[in-house]
Amino acid sequence: MARKIPPAWRAAFMAVPRHLFIPDTVWVREEGRPVPLRRADSPERWLEACYSDEPIAVQLDDGDGSGRGYVTSSASMPSVVALMLEAAELRFGHRVLEIGTGTGFNAALIACRVGIDNTTTVEIDADLAEQAREALKNAGWPVETVAADGTQGYPPGAPYDRILSTASVYKVPYPWIEQAAPGGKVVTPWGTAFHSGALLRLYVNGDGTASGHFEGDTGFMWVRGQRPPHGAVEDRVSPEHDYAETVTDLHPYEPVGDFSASFAIGALVPGMTSTLVYDRDDPASQRYTVYLMDPGSGSWASWRIQPGPHEYVVKQHGPRSLFDELARAYQWWKEAGKPDHTRFGLTVTPDRQIVWLDDPAHPVA
Ligand SMILES: C[S@@+](CC[C@H](N)C(=O)[O-])C[C@H]1O[C@@H](n2cnc3c(N)ncnc32)[C@H](O)[C@@H]1O
Repeated sequence: MARKIPPAWRAAFMAVPRHLFIPDTVWVREEGRPVPLRRADSPERWLEACYSDEPIAVQLDDGDGSGRGYVTSSASMPSVVALMLEAAELRFGHRVLEIGTGTGFNAALIACRVGIDNTTTVEIDADLAEQAREALKNAGWPVETVAADGTQGYPPGAPYDRILSTASVYKVPYPWIEQAAPGGKVVTPWGTAFHSGALLRLYVNGDGTASGHFEGDTGFMWVRGQRPPHGAVEDRVSPEHDYAETVTDLHPYEPVGDFSASFAIGALVPGMTSTLVYDRDDPASQRYTVYLMDPGSGSWASWRIQPGPHEYVVKQHGPRSLFDELARAYQWWKEAGKPDHTRFGLTVTPDRQIVWLDDPAHPVA
């Protein structure tokens, strides 16, 4: 793992042993389902997981025992944690607020760089916050750990030189901009309902605004309150629904499969999710349907792909014509020269956020 950690962060990773922050029971995927991995049952496997460059799921379903199996807290992948810490350009003495304490591992790394008294971390889940507080204390990094909704920031410690979120947002919470010192930075994963997103590094101006480019390709779990609605296709697409049927020669390969194309589409087409469903009886998976859905308006589109002539049937239901919106956004991206996602950026003001291409003078969404 060490070679994946940038040199400037290796000493901190050595000083903060990850296993001290990982609970005795974690969750691993087997055949697509989360199953518990208990330290008491498999100590070697557990330790191996602690020192792999992988995220480790530490909570499912907000801890409510519902059994749906969604990961709602994890110790993030160490190499991604390191990338994010590098992007934050932390220096000793910086006052730092972390949103999304999780296990506390990242908070200890931050404290190792900027100082324990300069670090505050906020976790929305009270049980996780308590576990992390204990782990941080026992590991020798007693960072202030607050159980609260981090989208409100944490005013008692403001202003901060850096605000780092380890949970993804679509709308950057304005309290983060208000609570960052002028010249400070806000670093957060940013995504859309359509695309898992990228890292956003915002430079905070003294006039109540912040701007910066997207970087990297980090996909994180969402902050509670901004999660795109879950829901299976069967819950949203009914045989009773009416629809308009058309034919297209557009294949989903690029608009859905290309990182930068789908990043741009996600930014231009709000609220649209996509799900790909393979035909069960087609082992080579050459026949499948891409469903585009907007739970807000009840709109959906199905885009049927099968071998043969490049003509794919599209059905669209509801007030939004989601396939048309996707196709228009994709066309825009192609005509713009297929810009890489790192050419996009975001500006946050008190009343809105604007996605731009190359510089804030060229807003696109
Ligand atoms: C990927 S995990 C964080 C990993 C963590 N930094 C670590 O080192 O283990 C994301 C965390 O964000 C928390 N979270 C989600 N929404 C939040 C919110 N609004 N405020 C604070 N924490 C939140 C989740 O409960 C989860 O523990």
